[in-house]
Amino acid sequence: MRIIQVGVGGFGKSWRPALTTTPGVEVAALVDIDPDNLKEAAGFFGVPEKCCFASDSLPWERFEADAVVHSTPQNFRYAHIMRALGAGKDVLMVKPMSDRFETAVEMAGEAARLGRKLVVAQQMRWHPLILQLREWAQSGALGEIGYVHLDFFYSKEGYQGSYPQDYPLLVQGSIHHFDFLRWVLGSDARRVWAENFNPTWITGHGVRAAYAVFEMANGVRACYRSVPSQSDHHSWLCDWRIEGSKGLVESRDCRLYLNGEEALSCWEDGDSFNNRRLPQLQKVVMEQFMAYRSGGKEPGISGRNNLNSLAMSFGAIRAGETGQRQELG
Ligand SMILES: NC(=O)c1ccc[n+]([C@@H]2O[C@H](COP(=O)([O-])OP(=O)(O)OC[C@H]3O[C@@H](n4cnc5c(N)ncnc54)[C@H](O)[C@@H]3O)[C@@H](O)[C@H]2O)c1
Repeated sequence: MRIIQVGVGGFGKSWRPALTTTPGVEVAALVDIDPDNLKEAAGFFGVPEKCCFASDSLPWERFEADAVVHSTPQNFRYAHIMRALGAGKDVLMVKPMSDRFETAVEMAGEAARLGRKLVVAQQMRWHPLILQLREWAQSGALGEIGYVHLDFFYSKEGYQGSYPQDYPLLVQGSIHHFDFLRWVLGSDARRVWAENFNPTWITGHGVRAAYAVFEMANGVRACYRSVPSQSDHHSWLCDWRIEGSKGLVESRDCRLYLNGEEALSCWEDGDSFNNRRLPQLQKVVMEQFMAYRSGGKEPGISGRNNLNSLAMSFGAIRAGETGQRQELG
């Protein structure tokens, strides 16, 4: 599979293990508007200068390749991906799928119309802590699930995202947590109400705190609390509480407790779950993408499926702005 990587610096760099160690993957061309990032990546991958595009207005999508790995900030996603799809490429993109819900819907529609494969890299689904929660929630170990609490604590400044935006937290950060909820519970969200705000010490642009309550299709209520915090504890995997008719699961600072007893809370080599090992998890995403391209069934991280997670972000925004509970389709 010949790949064009668009957006090679920043988070784009974390794709290198997946791009260089997955059998059958070859990085054929690179696109980046930052000349230093482009040069450094060209050196890393050994991509010749004639296959490097220093501006996204150049016709990079016509370069002979099978797929695009897209890792620029999300405000470029729609324009770039519509071009890539139109030029016959399949696409693996980082989250969030887009900076607007409507454009994400259009992208999924265009991929379906052209018969192209679109995947969103929600790699944290395969973190062992999240997989364990999913197993407990879906195996019946907890009985019938009644409610879920999940907390995301971030730095005192709050989550600002890759560029100035109105809702960096809900669109770029919380998308992971909303995707966790659907994945762990095996159910989509049907309704949301929310209060989005900034604590007084935050004066910059963008809303960085949210309290949102989701009603899932299976009736479970999920209460999401996401706040800037004085503590050093940044809970990207969330602190969880899942209560069922037969049991209770909690996680705090990446340690898991089933009915009060600590369960295995580290990687197989003893490393803390706090280490998220994203480049390792991205290999799983790459494998799913390749299987999908080779005729495998549509994965849970397809663009079409991911719209259900993105709808939770934009539904929570709308609920906060209107002061009214929102229905999620
Ligand atoms: N866990 C995760 O999945 C995770 C973590 C971090 C970031 N991300 C996502 O990665 C994306 C990028 O975030 P970042 O912080 O690395 O951003 P960034 O600003 O560092 O940009 C990444 C790269 O894209 C390049 N770029 C920017 N605009 C471009 C354009 N128009 N055309 C071509 N290249 C362009 C930049 O020069 C840079 O090399 C965001 O959408 C973010 O949500 C995902």
